[in-house]
Amino acid sequence: MALLKVENVFKRFGGLVAVNDVSLTVEENQIIGIIGPNGAGKTTLFNCIAGAFPPSEGKIVFEGSEIGGKKPHQICTLGLSRTFQVVKPFASKTVLYNVTVGAFAKTNRRVEAEAKAIKVLEFLQMDDKRDVFAKNLTLPERKRLELARALATEPTMLLLDEVMAGLRFSEIEVMIELLKKIRAAGVTLVIVEHIMQAIMALSDHIYVLNFGGLIAQGSPAEIAQNQEVIKAYLGDDYVTVED
Ligand SMILES: Nc1ncnc2c1ncn2[C@@H]1O[C@H](COP(=O)(O)OP(=O)(O)O)[C@@H](O)[C@H]1O
Ligand SMILES: [Mg+2]
Repeated sequence: MALLKVENVFKRFGGLVAVNDVSLTVEENQIIGIIGPNGAGKTTLFNCIAGAFPPSEGKIVFEGSEIGGKKPHQICTLGLSRTFQVVKPFASKTVLYNVTVGAFAKTNRRVEAEAKAIKVLEFLQMDDKRDVFAKNLTLPERKRLELARALATEPTMLLLDEVMAGLRFSEIEVMIELLKKIRAAGVTLVIVEHIMQAIMALSDHIYVLNFGGLIAQGSPAEIAQNQEVIKAYLGDDYVTVED
């Protein structure tokens, strides 16, 4: 049984169809990549899956039960967490506080939540930052805090929305290794990312969105050679013409 099944999902904002008849399947312990130009509907799709708002149409099934229209905290309790493209930690609170908030998704006991948060910070090699205020973190550290907060909810599946945006080459390499470690720990990942180096290195399977609809899917090698994908990203001029 697939861990997540998105079936014919639409999301409309007035006349705009932000997500247009999208279907996708995620198997347990896969890393699935979702790519597409700005405005393609990637974040909106995550919002539908994670419960920020209900899909206008279609089914979203997680571990065999329908989650379309459920609230974010209910979906999170079921084991599906997400990061936000625009990172918004409690700026005047410490790293440990922010991650502990995540851990409260699975326990009401403060001691337990804090212990879980410390374990996650150790796993992400940022326990040395635990007493630093979130507002004093660098961008790569804030991205890692966002990841820590989501991991502290003990997800089965994690939706990552551009966790590498703004990072330098060396920082991207570090993040790729961290995501591999998270998968090895048993978490299924769906990653939205513009950084092809990361998408290609990590994904078992890639879905490509454009104007809300799926235009292609396949292995990283297949996607890299897909003319329609190249056109969507780079414009007609870049499509190679065979003579
Ligand atoms: N809450 C919203 N209300 C109205 N329009 C929205 C909303 N969220 C996204 N959109 C629109 O939906 C389209 C897809 O946006 P988004 O999902 O953010 O794309 P991506 O993440 O692929 O860049 C865009 O045209 C965007 O302006
Ligand atoms: Mg987005």
